[in-house]
Amino acid sequence: MNFTALQDIPTALALLEKGDVVAIPTETVYGLAARIDRQAGLEKIFQVKERPFFDPLIVHVDSIAMAQSLAREWSQSAQVLTQTFWPGPLTLVLPKSERVSDLITSGLDSVGLRCPRHLVTLELIRSAGVGLAAPSANKFGRTSPTTWQHVLAEFGDSVFILKDEAGQVGIESTVLAIRSGASGDELAILRPGMITAHEIETALVNAGLRCQWKSVAQHREAPGQMKHHYMPSVPLLWLDQKRSVPEILAEANRRASEIPDAVEGVPLNTLRKEKAPGVFFLTAAALELSNQPELAARGLYSQLRSLSESGVDLIYFCAEPTMQGEHWTAILERLTKATSLKLS
Ligand code: TXA
Ligand code: MG
Repeated sequence: MNFTALQDIPTALALLEKGDVVAIPTETVYGLAARIDRQAGLEKIFQVKERPFFDPLIVHVDSIAMAQSLAREWSQSAQVLTQTFWPGPLTLVLPKSERVSDLITSGLDSVGLRCPRHLVTLELIRSAGVGLAAPSANKFGRTSPTTWQHVLAEFGDSVFILKDEAGQVGIESTVLAIRSGASGDELAILRPGMITAHEIETALVNAGLRCQWKSVAQHREAPGQMKHHYMPSVPLLWLDQKRSVPEILAEANRRASEIPDAVEGVPLNTLRKEKAPGVFFLTAAALELSNQPELAARGLYSQLRSLSESGVDLIYFCAEPTMQGEHWTAILERLTKATSLKLS
Protein backbone atom coordinates (compact mmCIF):
# COMPACT_ATOMS: atom_id res chain seq x y z
CA MET A 1 0.00 0.00 0.00
CA ASN A 2 1.13 3.44 -0.86
CA PHE A 3 0.11 5.61 2.09
CA THR A 4 1.19 9.05 3.20
CA ALA A 5 4.92 9.22 3.74
CA LEU A 6 6.39 11.41 6.46
CA GLN A 7 7.69 13.95 3.97
CA ASP A 8 4.27 14.35 2.33
CA ILE A 9 2.90 16.70 4.97
CA PRO A 10 5.66 19.32 4.39
CA THR A 11 5.06 19.02 0.63
CA ALA A 12 1.33 19.55 1.14
CA LEU A 13 1.99 22.51 3.44
CA ALA A 14 4.28 24.14 0.87
CA LEU A 15 1.69 23.74 -1.88
CA LEU A 16 -1.07 25.18 0.31
CA GLU A 17 1.22 28.04 1.33
CA LYS A 18 1.78 29.07 -2.28
CA GLY A 19 -1.94 29.02 -3.05
CA ASP A 20 -2.31 25.55 -4.53
CA VAL A 21 -4.80 22.78 -3.69
CA VAL A 22 -4.14 19.40 -2.01
CA ALA A 23 -6.42 16.35 -1.72
CA ILE A 24 -6.93 15.43 1.93
CA PRO A 25 -8.26 12.21 3.48
CA THR A 26 -11.07 12.42 6.03
CA GLU A 27 -13.27 9.86 7.77
CA THR A 28 -16.09 10.66 5.31
CA VAL A 29 -14.81 11.33 1.80
CA TYR A 30 -11.66 12.89 0.31
CA GLY A 31 -11.59 16.70 0.25
CA LEU A 32 -9.93 19.12 -2.17
CA ALA A 33 -8.36 21.65 0.17
CA ALA A 34 -7.00 25.18 0.02
CA ARG A 35 -5.99 27.57 2.81
CA ILE A 36 -8.83 29.95 3.62
CA ASP A 37 -6.40 32.87 3.38
CA ARG A 38 -5.19 32.07 -0.16
CA GLN A 39 -7.54 33.45 -2.79
CA ALA A 40 -5.68 31.63 -5.58
CA GLY A 41 -6.11 28.27 -3.87
CA LEU A 42 -9.81 28.89 -3.24
CA GLU A 43 -10.34 29.82 -6.88
CA LYS A 44 -8.45 26.73 -7.96
CA ILE A 45 -10.88 24.51 -6.01
CA PHE A 46 -13.77 25.77 -8.12
CA GLN A 47 -11.74 25.54 -11.32
CA VAL A 48 -10.47 21.97 -10.72
CA LYS A 49 -13.90 20.74 -9.60
CA GLU A 50 -15.75 22.67 -12.32
CA ARG A 51 -17.96 23.77 -9.44
CA PRO A 52 -20.34 26.73 -9.73
CA PHE A 53 -19.70 29.55 -7.29
CA PHE A 54 -23.17 29.39 -5.72
CA ASP A 55 -22.30 26.26 -3.69
CA PRO A 56 -20.40 27.19 -0.48
CA LEU A 57 -17.37 25.33 0.89
CA ILE A 58 -16.89 23.73 4.31
CA VAL A 59 -13.93 25.02 6.35
CA HIS A 60 -11.99 22.24 8.07
CA VAL A 61 -10.50 23.09 11.45
CA ASP A 62 -8.23 21.26 13.91
CA SER A 63 -10.02 22.32 17.09
CA ILE A 64 -12.99 24.01 18.69
CA ALA A 65 -10.75 27.05 19.30
CA MET A 66 -10.03 27.42 15.57
CA ALA A 67 -13.73 27.06 14.78
CA GLN A 68 -14.59 29.76 17.33
CA SER A 69 -12.16 32.12 15.61
CA LEU A 70 -14.11 31.73 12.36
CA ALA A 71 -17.66 32.09 13.76
CA ARG A 72 -19.23 35.38 14.76
CA GLU A 73 -21.45 33.70 17.36
CA TRP A 74 -20.63 30.57 19.31
CA SER A 75 -23.84 29.41 20.97
CA GLN A 76 -24.20 26.91 23.80
CA SER A 77 -25.54 24.40 21.28
CA ALA A 78 -22.41 24.80 19.16
CA GLN A 79 -20.27 24.22 22.24
CA VAL A 80 -22.13 21.07 23.31
CA LEU A 81 -22.31 19.58 19.81
CA THR A 82 -18.66 20.17 18.99
CA GLN A 83 -17.59 18.75 22.37
CA THR A 84 -19.75 15.70 21.74
CA PHE A 85 -19.13 14.97 18.06
CA TRP A 86 -15.78 16.51 17.08
CA PRO A 87 -13.55 15.36 15.63
CA GLY A 88 -16.22 13.68 13.50
CA PRO A 89 -18.69 13.85 10.62
CA LEU A 90 -20.74 16.87 11.76
CA THR A 91 -20.55 20.24 9.98
CA LEU A 92 -22.01 23.23 11.79
CA VAL A 93 -23.29 26.17 9.76
CA LEU A 94 -22.88 29.28 11.93
CA PRO A 95 -22.77 33.06 11.44
CA LYS A 96 -19.39 33.75 9.85
CA SER A 97 -16.61 36.00 11.05
CA GLU A 98 -15.12 38.47 8.60
CA ARG A 99 -12.01 36.28 8.33
CA VAL A 100 -14.06 33.96 6.10
CA SER A 101 -14.26 35.24 2.53
CA ASP A 102 -17.38 35.41 0.35
CA LEU A 103 -15.78 33.00 -2.09
CA ILE A 104 -15.93 30.30 0.61
CA THR A 105 -19.53 31.03 1.64
CA SER A 106 -20.93 32.00 -1.79
CA GLY A 107 -21.73 35.37 -0.31
CA LEU A 108 -23.79 33.91 2.55
CA ASP A 109 -23.48 35.32 6.04
CA SER A 110 -22.81 31.84 7.46
CA VAL A 111 -19.93 29.38 7.28
CA GLY A 112 -19.83 25.57 7.44
CA LEU A 113 -17.22 24.36 9.98
CA ARG A 114 -16.07 20.83 10.59
CA CYS A 115 -13.24 19.08 12.44
CA PRO A 116 -12.48 15.83 10.60
CA ARG A 117 -11.60 12.65 12.51
CA HIS A 118 -8.40 11.94 10.64
CA LEU A 119 -4.90 12.16 12.14
CA VAL A 120 -3.00 13.10 8.96
CA THR A 121 -5.44 15.86 8.06
CA LEU A 122 -5.64 17.18 11.62
CA GLU A 123 -1.84 17.37 11.66
CA LEU A 124 -1.88 19.19 8.32
CA ILE A 125 -4.38 21.80 9.57
CA ARG A 126 -2.49 22.19 12.84
CA SER A 127 0.79 22.76 11.00
CA ALA A 128 -0.83 25.18 8.54
CA GLY A 129 -2.22 27.08 11.53
CA VAL A 130 -5.26 28.09 9.52
CA GLY A 131 -8.53 26.51 8.37
CA LEU A 132 -8.66 24.60 5.08
CA ALA A 133 -11.68 25.06 2.84
CA ALA A 134 -12.49 21.74 1.18
CA PRO A 135 -15.40 20.36 -0.79
CA SER A 136 -15.45 16.68 -1.70
CA ALA A 137 -12.67 15.92 -4.21
CA ASN A 138 -14.85 15.04 -7.20
CA LYS A 139 -15.95 16.88 -10.32
CA PHE A 140 -19.13 18.81 -9.59
CA GLY A 141 -22.25 16.64 -9.37
CA ARG A 142 -20.34 13.36 -9.53
CA THR A 143 -19.77 10.51 -7.07
CA SER A 144 -17.62 11.53 -4.10
CA PRO A 145 -14.20 9.84 -3.69
CA THR A 146 -13.52 7.66 -0.66
CA THR A 147 -10.02 6.48 -1.66
CA TRP A 148 -6.93 8.22 -3.03
CA GLN A 149 -7.26 6.08 -6.14
CA HIS A 150 -10.67 7.67 -6.76
CA VAL A 151 -9.11 11.13 -6.49
CA LEU A 152 -6.35 10.13 -8.90
CA ALA A 153 -8.95 8.84 -11.36
CA GLU A 154 -10.89 12.10 -11.01
CA PHE A 155 -8.07 14.64 -11.37
CA GLY A 156 -4.96 12.76 -12.57
CA ASP A 157 -1.54 14.12 -11.60
CA SER A 158 -2.73 17.71 -11.47
CA VAL A 159 -3.58 17.46 -7.75
CA PHE A 160 -1.20 16.42 -4.96
CA ILE A 161 -2.85 13.70 -2.83
CA LEU A 162 -2.21 12.83 0.80
CA LYS A 163 -2.70 9.10 0.49
CA ASP A 164 -4.41 7.09 3.18
CA GLU A 165 -6.86 4.30 3.78
CA ALA A 166 -10.50 4.70 2.81
CA GLY A 167 -12.64 6.63 5.30
CA GLN A 168 -14.65 4.62 7.79
CA VAL A 169 -17.86 6.64 7.41
CA GLY A 170 -18.03 6.72 3.62
CA ILE A 171 -20.68 9.40 3.05
CA GLU A 172 -20.39 13.13 3.67
CA SER A 173 -20.87 14.77 7.06
CA THR A 174 -24.23 15.78 8.46
CA VAL A 175 -24.66 19.52 7.81
CA LEU A 176 -26.48 21.25 10.68
CA ALA A 177 -27.39 24.94 10.67
CA ILE A 178 -27.67 26.68 14.03
CA ARG A 179 -29.20 30.12 14.39
CA SER A 180 -30.19 32.03 17.47
CA GLY A 181 -33.95 32.54 17.57
CA ALA A 182 -36.23 34.48 19.93
CA SER A 183 -36.47 31.55 22.34
CA GLY A 184 -33.07 29.89 21.98
CA ASP A 185 -31.10 28.19 19.23
CA GLU A 186 -32.92 26.92 16.14
CA LEU A 187 -31.55 23.90 14.29
CA ALA A 188 -32.02 22.59 10.76
CA ILE A 189 -30.41 19.61 9.07
CA LEU A 190 -29.31 20.83 5.64
CA ARG A 191 -27.78 17.49 4.64
CA PRO A 192 -28.46 14.22 6.49
CA GLY A 193 -25.47 12.08 7.44
CA MET A 194 -24.40 9.34 9.82
CA ILE A 195 -24.69 11.64 12.84
CA THR A 196 -28.46 11.76 13.16
CA ALA A 197 -31.01 14.32 14.38
CA HIS A 198 -31.81 11.93 17.21
CA GLU A 199 -28.16 11.85 18.38
CA ILE A 200 -27.92 15.64 18.09
CA GLU A 201 -31.09 16.13 20.09
CA THR A 202 -29.95 13.64 22.75
CA ALA A 203 -26.63 15.46 23.18
CA LEU A 204 -28.38 18.82 23.62
CA VAL A 205 -31.07 17.54 25.97
CA ASN A 206 -28.46 15.71 28.09
CA ALA A 207 -26.65 19.03 28.46
CA GLY A 208 -29.88 20.69 29.62
CA LEU A 209 -30.44 22.64 26.38
CA ARG A 210 -33.64 22.96 24.38
CA CYS A 211 -33.70 21.61 20.87
CA GLN A 212 -35.90 23.49 18.40
CA TRP A 213 -35.98 21.98 14.93
CA LYS A 214 -36.73 24.00 11.81
CA SER A 215 -37.27 22.39 8.45
CA VAL A 216 -34.82 23.08 5.62
CA ALA A 217 -37.59 24.98 3.83
CA GLN A 218 -37.80 27.36 6.80
CA HIS A 219 -34.07 27.85 6.60
CA ARG A 220 -33.29 30.67 4.24
CA GLU A 221 -29.63 29.75 3.72
CA ALA A 222 -29.85 26.27 2.30
CA PRO A 223 -27.87 25.99 -0.92
CA GLY A 224 -26.53 22.69 -2.22
CA GLN A 225 -30.07 21.34 -2.46
CA MET A 226 -29.60 20.38 -6.10
CA LYS A 227 -31.89 17.73 -7.48
CA HIS A 228 -28.98 15.76 -8.92
CA HIS A 229 -25.65 15.08 -7.29
CA TYR A 230 -23.28 12.17 -6.57
CA MET A 231 -23.90 10.78 -10.07
CA PRO A 232 -21.86 7.83 -11.30
CA SER A 233 -20.61 7.88 -14.89
CA VAL A 234 -23.31 5.46 -16.08
CA PRO A 235 -26.99 6.07 -15.26
CA LEU A 236 -28.36 4.78 -11.98
CA LEU A 237 -31.96 3.57 -12.10
CA TRP A 238 -34.08 3.44 -8.96
CA LEU A 239 -36.65 0.63 -8.91
CA ASP A 240 -39.70 0.89 -6.67
CA GLN A 241 -40.15 -2.85 -7.03
CA LYS A 242 -37.99 -5.75 -8.18
CA ARG A 243 -37.88 -6.35 -11.96
CA SER A 244 -36.00 -8.61 -14.33
CA VAL A 245 -32.92 -7.28 -16.12
CA PRO A 246 -34.54 -7.52 -19.61
CA GLU A 247 -37.51 -5.49 -18.32
CA ILE A 248 -35.20 -2.87 -16.80
CA LEU A 249 -33.20 -2.55 -20.03
CA ALA A 250 -36.31 -2.32 -22.21
CA GLU A 251 -37.81 0.46 -20.12
CA ALA A 252 -34.51 2.34 -19.83
CA ASN A 253 -34.13 2.30 -23.63
CA ARG A 254 -37.72 3.45 -24.08
CA ARG A 255 -37.25 6.31 -21.64
CA ALA A 256 -33.62 7.20 -22.44
CA SER A 257 -34.50 10.77 -23.36
CA GLU A 258 -35.60 11.40 -19.74
CA ILE A 259 -32.09 10.69 -18.46
CA PRO A 260 -30.47 14.02 -17.59
CA ASP A 261 -27.25 14.97 -19.33
CA ALA A 262 -26.39 17.96 -17.13
CA VAL A 263 -26.42 18.93 -13.45
CA GLU A 264 -27.27 22.59 -12.80
CA GLY A 265 -26.08 23.38 -16.30
CA VAL A 266 -22.82 21.44 -15.90
CA PRO A 267 -22.75 18.73 -18.58
CA LEU A 268 -22.28 15.10 -17.59
CA ASN A 269 -19.95 13.53 -20.14
CA THR A 270 -20.58 9.84 -20.46
CA LEU A 271 -24.15 9.20 -19.43
CA ARG A 272 -25.79 8.12 -22.66
CA LYS A 273 -24.29 6.51 -25.75
CA GLU A 274 -26.52 5.31 -28.55
CA LYS A 275 -25.32 1.88 -29.72
CA ALA A 276 -27.94 1.26 -32.36
CA PRO A 277 -31.03 3.34 -33.21
CA GLY A 278 -33.01 3.63 -29.97
CA VAL A 279 -30.63 1.31 -28.09
CA PHE A 280 -28.52 2.87 -25.37
CA PHE A 281 -28.37 0.12 -22.77
CA LEU A 282 -27.51 -3.55 -23.33
CA THR A 283 -26.20 -4.55 -19.90
CA ALA A 284 -27.15 -3.74 -16.33
CA ALA A 285 -25.72 -4.49 -12.88
CA ALA A 286 -27.36 -4.28 -9.46
CA LEU A 287 -26.07 -2.09 -6.65
CA GLU A 288 -26.25 -4.37 -3.63
CA LEU A 289 -25.83 -2.79 -0.21
CA SER A 290 -25.12 -4.40 3.14
CA ASN A 291 -28.20 -4.48 5.35
CA GLN A 292 -26.17 -2.71 8.03
CA PRO A 293 -26.29 1.02 7.31
CA GLU A 294 -22.76 1.72 8.59
CA LEU A 295 -21.33 -0.82 6.15
CA ALA A 296 -23.66 0.26 3.35
CA ALA A 297 -22.52 3.89 3.73
CA ARG A 298 -18.85 2.91 3.89
CA GLY A 299 -19.03 0.98 0.62
CA LEU A 300 -21.58 3.06 -1.28
CA TYR A 301 -19.40 5.36 -3.40
CA SER A 302 -16.72 2.73 -4.07
CA GLN A 303 -19.39 0.36 -5.32
CA LEU A 304 -20.96 3.00 -7.56
CA ARG A 305 -17.54 3.74 -9.03
CA SER A 306 -16.51 0.14 -9.58
CA LEU A 307 -19.85 -0.75 -11.14
CA SER A 308 -19.57 2.26 -13.49
CA GLU A 309 -16.09 1.18 -14.49
CA SER A 310 -16.99 -2.49 -14.94
CA GLY A 311 -18.28 -1.80 -18.44
CA VAL A 312 -22.03 -2.11 -17.75
CA ASP A 313 -24.38 0.37 -19.42
CA LEU A 314 -26.48 1.05 -16.35
CA ILE A 315 -26.73 0.37 -12.62
CA TYR A 316 -30.00 -0.35 -10.85
CA PHE A 317 -30.99 -0.21 -7.21
CA CYS A 318 -34.07 -1.40 -5.37
CA ALA A 319 -34.52 -0.25 -1.76
CA GLU A 320 -35.47 -2.97 0.72
CA PRO A 321 -38.34 -2.42 3.17
CA THR A 322 -35.82 -2.87 6.00
CA MET A 323 -33.91 0.27 4.94
CA GLN A 324 -35.66 2.44 7.54
CA GLY A 325 -34.36 4.90 10.09
CA GLU A 326 -32.16 7.97 10.02
CA HIS A 327 -28.94 6.30 8.85
CA TRP A 328 -30.79 4.90 5.86
CA THR A 329 -32.35 8.32 5.22
CA ALA A 330 -28.86 9.70 4.68
CA ILE A 331 -27.84 6.85 2.38
CA LEU A 332 -31.07 6.90 0.39
CA GLU A 333 -30.84 10.69 0.03
CA ARG A 334 -27.49 10.23 -1.75
CA LEU A 335 -28.93 7.49 -3.95
CA THR A 336 -32.03 9.52 -4.79
CA LYS A 337 -29.85 12.38 -6.00
CA ALA A 338 -27.55 10.00 -7.89
CA THR A 339 -30.55 8.48 -9.66
CA SER A 340 -31.08 9.31 -13.33
CA LEU A 341 -34.44 7.61 -13.76
CA LYS A 342 -37.08 6.13 -11.45
CA LEU A 343 -39.00 3.04 -12.57
CA SER A 344 -42.17 2.51 -10.60
O1 TXA B 1 -17.87 15.10 4.85
C1 TXA B 1 -17.85 16.20 4.30
O2 TXA B 1 -18.57 17.13 4.65
C2 TXA B 1 -16.90 16.38 3.11
C3 TXA B 1 -15.45 16.26 3.60
C4 TXA B 1 -14.44 16.58 2.54
O3 TXA B 1 -15.29 17.07 4.72
N1 TXA B 1 -17.11 17.65 2.47
C5 TXA B 1 -18.17 17.89 1.65
O4 TXA B 1 -18.15 19.13 1.03
O5 TXA B 1 -19.07 17.09 1.46
P1 TXA B 1 -19.11 19.52 -0.19
O6 TXA B 1 -18.65 20.86 -0.63
O7 TXA B 1 -19.13 18.45 -1.19
O8 TXA B 1 -20.51 19.69 0.49
C6 TXA B 1 -20.72 20.75 1.41
C7 TXA B 1 -22.18 20.97 1.65
C8 TXA B 1 -22.85 21.57 0.41
O9 TXA B 1 -24.10 20.96 0.21
C9 TXA B 1 -23.00 23.04 0.81
O10 TXA B 1 -24.08 23.62 0.15
C10 TXA B 1 -23.17 22.95 2.32
O11 TXA B 1 -22.33 21.90 2.73
N2 TXA B 1 -22.71 24.19 2.96
C11 TXA B 1 -21.45 24.62 3.13
N3 TXA B 1 -21.43 25.85 3.70
C12 TXA B 1 -22.71 26.21 3.89
C13 TXA B 1 -23.36 27.36 4.41
N4 TXA B 1 -22.68 28.42 4.84
N5 TXA B 1 -24.71 27.37 4.44
C14 TXA B 1 -25.40 26.31 4.00
N6 TXA B 1 -24.86 25.20 3.48
C15 TXA B 1 -23.53 25.14 3.42
MG1 MG C 1 -19.66 17.11 -2.64
